[in-house]
Amino acid sequence: MPLSARKLTSRIGAVIENFDFEREPDADTVAELRGALNVHKVLAFDGVHLDDAGQERVASWFGRLTTAHPTVPSVEGAARVLPVDSETSKSNTWHTDVTFVANPPQLSTLRSVVTTPYGGETLIANAGAAYRDLPESLRNLADSLRAVHTNKYDYVRRPAVTDAQREHDRLFVSTVYEAEHPVVRVHPLTGERGLFIGGFAGRIVGLSDSESRALLEIFQKYVTRPENLVRWSWSPNQLVIFDNRITQHYAIDNYDDHPRRLNRVTVAGELPTGVDGVRSRQLVGDATHYSPLLEAVA
Ligand SMILES: [Fe+2]
Repeated sequence: MPLSARKLTSRIGAVIENFDFEREPDADTVAELRGALNVHKVLAFDGVHLDDAGQERVASWFGRLTTAHPTVPSVEGAARVLPVDSETSKSNTWHTDVTFVANPPQLSTLRSVVTTPYGGETLIANAGAAYRDLPESLRNLADSLRAVHTNKYDYVRRPAVTDAQREHDRLFVSTVYEAEHPVVRVHPLTGERGLFIGGFAGRIVGLSDSESRALLEIFQKYVTRPENLVRWSWSPNQLVIFDNRITQHYAIDNYDDHPRRLNRVTVAGELPTGVDGVRSRQLVGDATHYSPLLEAVA
């Protein structure tokens, strides 16, 4: 039976309504999921009963897995599962996952473990639509730029209050990484161009800090236009997969002190390529323990 994708907005997001996670899919079914992800950028599934191992199994349909994170420890006993836990960090900054390494994950999977009685939604933005929204002159400018992304830049905006937050923040930057990426990335499967910036992008190569900030702010405003967003409300037993090559996301901190926990498993990605064919490169740090350096990935 073909997949049934119910669109959530015109530009991004779909709920897949008839997928059976109990059965191991054949290659055609995985290709169909991949095709839907290429189109919708975000696929959401309800009524999913997976544990950590099951989530790893599902993520591995799309390629080789990364370990949980370059610096933050995994869930105990599950080396490829990162706890996204409000007790340690709320991720309420626009970002693309782990862009401070040269080959960030190609996709992320998030599974609801503890949901909040209200709020706690995740916003996900279509960075391809944002690029197409740019006036031609800004598109041409963006095409020509490269940016340096680092884990030391502004990711954690709240001051650490609890010991758990302090420890998370210390671990997050315990090894410093810097990677240089094109500001416009060409999606290797679709050829679609997207703005590839977000919270880890600190400066633009060749520009001053203030020029970098001003320009990134202009581009970022296009990414976060309401028309480019889907707002996902979490319930128990849900899985969301998003294409980390061409999206950004933001976890809204609007649930007071209620605990919130998602488990994340990411699939390794290739080195991003700009419109000029030049690939990303690692400037500082070695993240090969996190993600293998792959030439090309499905
Ligand atoms: Fe994230």
